[in-house]
Amino acid sequence: MRHFLSLFDVSDDELKRIFELGHQLKARLKSGVREPILQGKVAGLLFEKPSLRTRVSFECGMAQLGGSSLFLGEDVGWGKREAPQDFSRVIGQYLDVIVCRAKAHEKVETLAKYSGTVIINGLTDLCHPCQALADLMTVHEEFGKLEGQKLAFVGDGNNVSRSLALACAKMGMEFSIAAPKGYEIEQEFIDKVLQHAPGAKIEQTNDPAEAVAGACAVYTDVWASMGQEAEQAKREKDFASFQVNGKLMDAAGQDAIFLHCLPARRGEEVTDEVMDCPHSRIVEQAGNRMHAQKGLLVWLLTEAVDKIHLD
Ligand code: CP
Ligand code: NVA
Repeated sequence: MRHFLSLFDVSDDELKRIFELGHQLKARLKSGVREPILQGKVAGLLFEKPSLRTRVSFECGMAQLGGSSLFLGEDVGWGKREAPQDFSRVIGQYLDVIVCRAKAHEKVETLAKYSGTVIINGLTDLCHPCQALADLMTVHEEFGKLEGQKLAFVGDGNNVSRSLALACAKMGMEFSIAAPKGYEIEQEFIDKVLQHAPGAKIEQTNDPAEAVAGACAVYTDVWASMGQEAEQAKREKDFASFQVNGKLMDAAGQDAIFLHCLPARRGEEVTDEVMDCPHSRIVEQAGNRMHAQKGLLVWLLTEAVDKIHLD
Protein backbone atom coordinates (compact mmCIF):
# COMPACT_ATOMS: atom_id res chain seq x y z
CA MET A 1 0.00 0.00 0.00
CA ARG A 2 1.26 3.44 -0.91
CA HIS A 3 0.48 6.89 0.46
CA PHE A 4 0.77 10.33 -1.12
CA LEU A 5 1.70 12.53 1.84
CA SER A 6 4.18 14.48 -0.23
CA LEU A 7 5.93 14.22 -3.57
CA PHE A 8 8.83 12.53 -1.77
CA ASP A 9 6.57 9.45 -1.66
CA VAL A 10 6.75 8.81 -5.41
CA SER A 11 9.66 8.19 -7.76
CA ASP A 12 10.12 10.41 -10.81
CA ASP A 13 8.85 7.61 -13.07
CA GLU A 14 5.81 7.09 -10.84
CA LEU A 15 5.08 10.80 -10.97
CA LYS A 16 5.30 10.70 -14.78
CA ARG A 17 2.88 7.75 -14.79
CA ILE A 18 0.41 9.70 -12.60
CA PHE A 19 0.58 12.60 -15.09
CA GLU A 20 0.10 10.20 -17.99
CA LEU A 21 -2.99 8.69 -16.35
CA GLY A 22 -4.32 12.17 -15.61
CA HIS A 23 -3.92 13.25 -19.25
CA GLN A 24 -5.53 10.03 -20.50
CA LEU A 25 -8.50 10.28 -18.15
CA LYS A 26 -9.00 13.93 -19.09
CA ALA A 27 -9.02 13.06 -22.81
CA ARG A 28 -11.46 10.19 -22.24
CA LEU A 29 -13.81 12.35 -20.22
CA LYS A 30 -13.76 14.93 -23.02
CA SER A 31 -14.84 12.28 -25.49
CA GLY A 32 -17.63 11.18 -23.16
CA VAL A 33 -15.98 8.07 -21.70
CA ARG A 34 -16.30 7.49 -17.94
CA GLU A 35 -14.94 4.08 -17.01
CA PRO A 36 -15.86 2.63 -13.58
CA ILE A 37 -12.22 1.87 -12.73
CA LEU A 38 -12.83 2.49 -9.02
CA GLN A 39 -16.29 0.94 -8.81
CA GLY A 40 -17.26 0.23 -5.21
CA LYS A 41 -14.32 2.17 -3.75
CA VAL A 42 -15.05 4.80 -1.13
CA ALA A 43 -12.98 7.90 -0.42
CA GLY A 44 -13.27 9.80 2.84
CA LEU A 45 -12.54 13.51 2.68
CA LEU A 46 -11.32 14.43 6.13
CA PHE A 47 -10.91 18.20 6.29
CA GLU A 48 -10.13 20.51 9.18
CA LYS A 49 -9.77 23.60 6.97
CA PRO A 50 -12.11 25.05 4.33
CA SER A 51 -11.86 23.98 0.69
CA LEU A 52 -13.59 24.46 -2.63
CA ARG A 53 -11.28 22.98 -5.26
CA THR A 54 -9.76 20.06 -3.35
CA ARG A 55 -13.06 18.86 -1.94
CA VAL A 56 -15.15 19.20 -5.08
CA SER A 57 -12.50 17.92 -7.48
CA PHE A 58 -11.94 14.75 -5.41
CA GLU A 59 -15.66 14.14 -4.95
CA CYS A 60 -16.39 14.56 -8.67
CA GLY A 61 -13.30 12.58 -9.65
CA MET A 62 -14.35 9.61 -7.50
CA ALA A 63 -17.89 9.72 -8.89
CA GLN A 64 -16.64 9.80 -12.49
CA LEU A 65 -14.47 6.76 -11.79
CA GLY A 66 -17.44 4.79 -10.47
CA GLY A 67 -16.57 5.20 -6.78
CA SER A 68 -18.10 7.35 -4.09
CA SER A 69 -16.97 9.74 -1.40
CA LEU A 70 -17.95 11.01 2.02
CA PHE A 71 -17.15 14.46 3.30
CA LEU A 72 -15.95 14.28 6.91
CA GLY A 73 -15.78 17.72 8.48
CA GLU A 74 -15.33 19.00 12.00
CA ASP A 75 -18.10 16.86 13.51
CA VAL A 76 -16.19 13.57 13.22
CA GLY A 77 -13.84 14.97 15.86
CA TRP A 78 -10.46 14.20 14.27
CA GLY A 79 -7.97 14.88 17.06
CA LYS A 80 -10.72 16.02 19.40
CA ARG A 81 -13.11 13.23 20.44
CA GLU A 82 -10.66 10.35 20.80
CA ALA A 83 -7.02 9.34 20.56
CA PRO A 84 -5.52 9.62 17.04
CA GLN A 85 -4.64 5.91 16.88
CA ASP A 86 -8.23 4.88 17.76
CA PHE A 87 -9.70 7.33 15.27
CA SER A 88 -7.27 6.23 12.54
CA ARG A 89 -7.70 2.46 13.02
CA VAL A 90 -11.48 2.73 12.99
CA ILE A 91 -11.88 5.03 10.00
CA GLY A 92 -9.31 3.06 8.01
CA GLN A 93 -11.53 -0.04 8.09
CA TYR A 94 -14.33 1.69 6.22
CA LEU A 95 -12.50 3.67 3.58
CA ASP A 96 -10.34 2.68 0.61
CA VAL A 97 -8.62 6.04 0.59
CA ILE A 98 -8.62 9.13 2.80
CA VAL A 99 -7.93 12.58 1.41
CA CYS A 100 -7.10 14.76 4.37
CA ARG A 101 -6.54 18.44 4.90
CA ALA A 102 -4.88 19.19 8.23
CA LYS A 103 -3.36 22.11 10.02
CA ALA A 104 -0.28 20.10 11.04
CA HIS A 105 1.46 17.72 8.64
CA GLU A 106 2.26 15.37 11.55
CA LYS A 107 -1.45 14.70 11.95
CA VAL A 108 -1.60 13.26 8.43
CA GLU A 109 1.51 11.16 9.13
CA THR A 110 -0.18 9.74 12.23
CA LEU A 111 -3.26 8.88 10.19
CA ALA A 112 -1.04 7.08 7.64
CA LYS A 113 0.74 5.22 10.42
CA TYR A 114 -2.37 3.79 12.08
CA SER A 115 -5.22 3.75 9.54
CA GLY A 116 -4.10 0.85 7.35
CA THR A 117 -5.59 2.58 4.32
CA VAL A 118 -4.26 4.84 1.56
CA ILE A 119 -3.75 8.46 2.62
CA ILE A 120 -3.59 11.44 0.26
CA ASN A 121 -2.47 14.83 1.54
CA GLY A 122 -5.06 17.44 0.53
CA LEU A 123 -2.96 20.29 2.04
CA THR A 124 -1.03 20.66 5.26
CA ASP A 125 1.15 23.42 6.67
CA LEU A 126 4.13 21.67 5.05
CA CYS A 127 3.00 20.96 1.52
CA HIS A 128 0.21 20.69 -1.04
CA PRO A 129 1.29 17.91 -3.40
CA CYS A 130 -2.06 17.49 -5.22
CA GLN A 131 -1.88 21.16 -6.18
CA ALA A 132 1.55 20.67 -7.72
CA LEU A 133 0.20 17.79 -9.83
CA ALA A 134 -2.39 20.07 -11.43
CA ASP A 135 0.14 22.89 -11.79
CA LEU A 136 2.63 20.88 -13.79
CA MET A 137 -0.14 19.23 -15.79
CA THR A 138 -1.18 22.76 -16.83
CA VAL A 139 2.38 23.74 -17.78
CA HIS A 140 2.73 20.52 -19.79
CA GLU A 141 -0.51 21.19 -21.67
CA GLU A 142 0.62 24.70 -22.49
CA PHE A 143 4.18 24.04 -23.61
CA GLY A 144 4.13 20.33 -24.54
CA LYS A 145 6.95 19.42 -22.16
CA LEU A 146 8.23 20.01 -18.63
CA GLU A 147 11.92 19.27 -18.82
CA GLY A 148 14.04 22.38 -19.24
CA GLN A 149 11.18 24.79 -18.50
CA LYS A 150 11.51 27.39 -15.76
CA LEU A 151 8.71 28.08 -13.27
CA ALA A 152 8.93 31.20 -11.10
CA PHE A 153 7.06 31.56 -7.81
CA VAL A 154 6.68 35.04 -6.38
CA GLY A 155 5.59 35.07 -2.75
CA ASP A 156 5.69 33.03 0.41
CA GLY A 157 7.94 30.01 0.99
CA ASN A 158 4.86 28.02 1.99
CA ASN A 159 3.08 24.71 1.44
CA VAL A 160 2.34 25.48 -2.23
CA SER A 161 5.82 26.73 -3.15
CA ARG A 162 7.55 23.85 -1.33
CA SER A 163 5.58 21.27 -3.33
CA LEU A 164 6.24 23.16 -6.54
CA ALA A 165 9.99 23.27 -5.85
CA LEU A 166 10.01 19.51 -5.40
CA ALA A 167 7.72 18.78 -8.35
CA CYS A 168 9.87 20.92 -10.66
CA ALA A 169 13.07 19.29 -9.38
CA LYS A 170 11.65 15.83 -10.04
CA MET A 171 10.56 16.73 -13.58
CA GLY A 172 13.82 18.40 -14.63
CA MET A 173 12.38 21.90 -14.45
CA GLU A 174 14.12 24.96 -13.12
CA PHE A 175 12.40 26.52 -10.09
CA SER A 176 12.96 30.05 -8.95
CA ILE A 177 11.32 31.68 -5.95
CA ALA A 178 11.33 35.34 -4.99
CA ALA A 179 10.27 35.79 -1.37
CA PRO A 180 10.81 38.66 1.03
CA LYS A 181 13.63 38.20 3.53
CA GLY A 182 12.48 35.86 6.30
CA TYR A 183 9.82 34.20 4.13
CA GLU A 184 12.06 32.02 1.95
CA ILE A 185 11.70 28.23 1.75
CA GLU A 186 13.81 26.77 4.59
CA GLN A 187 17.29 25.71 3.47
CA GLU A 188 16.71 22.36 5.19
CA PHE A 189 13.80 21.65 2.83
CA ILE A 190 15.79 22.74 -0.25
CA ASP A 191 18.64 20.46 0.84
CA LYS A 192 16.19 17.57 1.14
CA VAL A 193 14.89 18.29 -2.38
CA LEU A 194 18.44 18.37 -3.74
CA GLN A 195 19.22 15.08 -2.03
CA HIS A 196 16.12 13.56 -3.63
CA ALA A 197 16.76 15.14 -7.05
CA PRO A 198 20.52 15.74 -7.34
CA GLY A 199 21.45 18.46 -9.82
CA ALA A 200 18.04 20.15 -9.66
CA LYS A 201 18.09 23.86 -10.45
CA ILE A 202 16.51 25.79 -7.57
CA GLU A 203 17.08 29.50 -7.10
CA GLN A 204 15.99 31.63 -4.14
CA THR A 205 16.10 35.41 -4.44
CA ASN A 206 14.49 38.45 -2.87
CA ASP A 207 14.03 40.09 -6.28
CA PRO A 208 10.79 39.21 -8.17
CA ALA A 209 12.13 40.49 -11.53
CA GLU A 210 15.18 38.25 -11.22
CA ALA A 211 13.03 35.23 -10.39
CA VAL A 212 10.67 35.62 -13.35
CA ALA A 213 13.36 36.26 -15.99
CA GLY A 214 13.16 33.49 -18.57
CA ALA A 215 10.23 31.77 -16.82
CA CYS A 216 7.47 30.08 -18.84
CA ALA A 217 5.10 30.36 -15.87
CA VAL A 218 4.75 32.92 -13.11
CA TYR A 219 2.98 31.63 -10.00
CA THR A 220 1.82 33.24 -6.82
CA ASP A 221 -0.26 32.41 -3.74
CA VAL A 222 -1.83 34.42 -0.93
CA TRP A 223 0.55 36.25 1.39
CA ALA A 224 -1.18 34.89 4.51
CA SER A 225 -2.26 31.26 4.30
CA MET A 226 -5.18 29.69 6.16
CA GLY A 227 -4.32 29.87 9.86
CA GLN A 228 -2.11 32.95 9.43
CA GLU A 229 -4.95 35.46 9.45
CA ALA A 230 -3.50 37.25 12.49
CA GLU A 231 -0.36 38.04 10.45
CA GLN A 232 -2.32 39.54 7.54
CA ALA A 233 -1.43 43.20 8.23
CA LYS A 234 2.27 42.51 8.79
CA ARG A 235 2.46 40.31 5.73
CA GLU A 236 0.75 42.94 3.55
CA LYS A 237 3.61 45.28 4.41
CA ASP A 238 6.36 42.68 4.06
CA PHE A 239 5.09 41.42 0.68
CA ALA A 240 4.09 44.83 -0.75
CA SER A 241 6.78 44.76 -3.45
CA PHE A 242 6.03 41.12 -4.38
CA GLN A 243 2.75 41.69 -6.19
CA VAL A 244 2.36 39.99 -9.56
CA ASN A 245 1.20 42.79 -11.85
CA GLY A 246 1.43 43.61 -15.55
CA LYS A 247 4.92 45.03 -15.18
CA LEU A 248 6.24 41.87 -13.52
CA MET A 249 4.56 39.66 -16.14
CA ASP A 250 6.32 41.71 -18.83
CA ALA A 251 9.64 40.93 -17.15
CA ALA A 252 8.89 37.20 -17.59
CA GLY A 253 8.67 37.29 -21.35
CA GLN A 254 5.96 37.23 -23.97
CA ASP A 255 4.64 33.67 -23.72
CA ALA A 256 4.71 33.27 -19.94
CA ILE A 257 1.48 32.05 -18.42
CA PHE A 258 0.14 33.10 -15.01
CA LEU A 259 -0.77 30.49 -12.41
CA HIS A 260 -2.34 30.71 -8.94
CA CYS A 261 -3.52 27.82 -6.77
CA LEU A 262 -6.56 29.89 -5.69
CA PRO A 263 -8.30 31.23 -3.72
CA ALA A 264 -6.65 34.57 -4.57
CA ARG A 265 -6.89 37.91 -2.85
CA ARG A 266 -7.24 40.09 -5.92
CA GLY A 267 -5.45 43.42 -5.52
CA GLU A 268 -2.95 41.95 -3.04
CA GLU A 269 -0.60 39.24 -4.33
CA VAL A 270 -1.98 39.67 -7.88
CA THR A 271 -3.84 42.35 -9.79
CA ASP A 272 -7.18 41.87 -11.56
CA GLU A 273 -5.35 42.72 -14.77
CA VAL A 274 -3.11 39.63 -14.45
CA MET A 275 -5.83 37.30 -13.09
CA ASP A 276 -7.99 38.05 -16.12
CA CYS A 277 -5.32 38.49 -18.81
CA PRO A 278 -5.16 36.22 -21.88
CA HIS A 279 -2.09 34.49 -20.44
CA SER A 280 -3.82 33.61 -17.19
CA ARG A 281 -4.42 29.83 -16.86
CA ILE A 282 -5.98 29.87 -13.38
CA VAL A 283 -9.26 28.33 -14.51
CA GLU A 284 -7.66 25.51 -16.52
CA GLN A 285 -5.27 24.94 -13.60
CA ALA A 286 -8.14 24.56 -11.13
CA GLY A 287 -9.90 22.26 -13.61
CA ASN A 288 -6.79 20.11 -13.81
CA ARG A 289 -7.01 19.45 -10.07
CA MET A 290 -9.69 16.91 -10.88
CA HIS A 291 -7.95 15.31 -13.86
CA ALA A 292 -4.54 15.01 -12.17
CA GLN A 293 -6.10 13.64 -8.96
CA LYS A 294 -8.05 11.05 -10.94
CA GLY A 295 -4.68 9.89 -12.29
CA LEU A 296 -3.38 9.78 -8.73
CA LEU A 297 -6.42 7.86 -7.43
CA VAL A 298 -6.24 5.28 -10.20
CA TRP A 299 -2.50 4.85 -9.69
CA LEU A 300 -2.73 4.52 -5.89
CA LEU A 301 -5.77 2.24 -5.86
CA THR A 302 -4.92 -0.02 -8.79
CA GLU A 303 -1.40 0.07 -10.24
CA ALA A 304 0.49 0.80 -7.01
CA VAL A 305 -1.42 -2.01 -5.29
CA ASP A 306 -0.70 -4.47 -8.09
CA LYS A 307 2.95 -3.58 -7.99
CA ILE A 308 3.15 -4.33 -4.28
CA HIS A 309 1.51 -7.73 -4.89
CA LEU A 310 3.89 -8.59 -7.70
CA ASP A 311 7.06 -7.69 -5.76
N1 CP B 1 -6.10 25.33 -4.29
C1 CP B 1 -6.84 24.72 -3.35
O1 CP B 1 -6.41 23.78 -2.69
O2 CP B 1 -8.08 25.24 -3.19
P1 CP B 1 -9.11 24.89 -2.03
O3 CP B 1 -8.52 25.44 -0.76
O4 CP B 1 -10.37 25.57 -2.42
O5 CP B 1 -9.25 23.40 -1.94
N1 NVA C 1 -1.11 28.57 0.95
C1 NVA C 1 -2.53 28.51 0.93
C2 NVA C 1 -3.00 27.58 -0.14
C3 NVA C 1 -4.48 27.43 -0.26
C4 NVA C 1 -4.88 26.47 -1.33
C5 NVA C 1 -3.05 28.06 2.30
O1 NVA C 1 -2.43 27.17 2.89
O2 NVA C 1 -4.02 28.62 2.77
